[in-house]
Amino acid sequence: MRKKFSFLLLLLLLVAGPLLAQSRVGRPAPSINVAKEFALAAKQYDRMLRTHPDTKQFPQSSKPDGSINNRDASWWCSGFFGGSLWYLFEQTKDPKWKTAADKWSMAVAGQQHNTETHDLGFMLYCPLGNGYRLTKNETYRPILLTGAQSLATRLRPEYGVIRSWNEFKGYNYPVIIDNMMNLEFLFWAAKASGDKKLYNLCISHADSTLKNHFRSDHSSYHVVCYEPGGKVLARHTAQGAADGSAWARGQAWGLYGFTVMYRETKDPKYLAHARRIANFYLKHPNLPVDKIPYWDFNAPGIPNEERDASAGAVAASGLLELCTYSGKEGKAYYEAAVAMLTSLSSPAYRAKLGENNHFLLKHSVGNKPANSEVDVPLVYADYYYLEALLRYEALHKQPAYRL
Ligand code: GLY
Repeated sequence: MRKKFSFLLLLLLLVAGPLLAQSRVGRPAPSINVAKEFALAAKQYDRMLRTHPDTKQFPQSSKPDGSINNRDASWWCSGFFGGSLWYLFEQTKDPKWKTAADKWSMAVAGQQHNTETHDLGFMLYCPLGNGYRLTKNETYRPILLTGAQSLATRLRPEYGVIRSWNEFKGYNYPVIIDNMMNLEFLFWAAKASGDKKLYNLCISHADSTLKNHFRSDHSSYHVVCYEPGGKVLARHTAQGAADGSAWARGQAWGLYGFTVMYRETKDPKYLAHARRIANFYLKHPNLPVDKIPYWDFNAPGIPNEERDASAGAVAASGLLELCTYSGKEGKAYYEAAVAMLTSLSSPAYRAKLGENNHFLLKHSVGNKPANSEVDVPLVYADYYYLEALLRYEALHKQPAYRL
């Protein structure tokens, strides 16, 4: 009898123990095998490196004929490959990735003097910022600081926002929601150099964006055009389905960007805004069950429209930070991010070794209205996917992490 009781007790402990432990600490068990996903990424990007001996040819995407599409250092995406190589180094600790990441990061260094683009955060901070964070290599620091000052020249005080494009369809002083992503770079430079002007510039840009880029349902316009004095002249889209539509990657850029604003300022208005964007995104009736959006939430042919894995990867990464600031409600953000990462890691989106021109993810959309980069791999989808995996892993390693 005693033997039977002990056996039942043991059985109960075996079954209920892990569940009880989990609920006591409020900590979900990891369901994504980050080491396995990185091992596959390492094999795939090893091939990418071997097919890219020339650091003037940055992997970008696939062409309509299926061949690789490379771009030069001045293209807005030139920093993502180096950034992904740093993430591979961060996870694997294999010095071969550090060597490759350094080479591809330094390949964009010349862009530090480029004052013709607002994308210097993507171009410089993703590669060299990650490199500096991981290695403290002092070569990277002055390049980053010069780049931040170049970016700062794009904020004209009479407008109070950082200008995005120099010229597009005759738009006056256009600002795109994507530009929120470059503020993290300026925050870093403000801290590294003590230049308070860079910090104030982030606040000015984010406050104007918060005021002018969003609709009452908390979705955002893609492009807002300004006149001096900061008054809005017009609202448009360039990459979305319509001026009034919710272009999926734009929503993800906003979610991520306002989460960074909260991280850097601790001003609750940015947190509230990031959460409003997240709620719009996650509760949208057109968000598919696998949580990878169509390229635009209002694309006219849904459900027969392309998905955008890049938006899914950016949103997953943003949500994995946002959940840490959101108390009990962070659970829903965490769970949504895990669902996104699970989908992206499945054969539906994850390329097999040797396929997909050696990119990691399939099925992204760059610019559907221009019929450019539709249903293809994109280098930045890979970057934010790896970043999200690392964030996921970091959350699970923190002893104090609760949901
Ligand atoms: N401008 C960056 C993007 O296509 O999202």
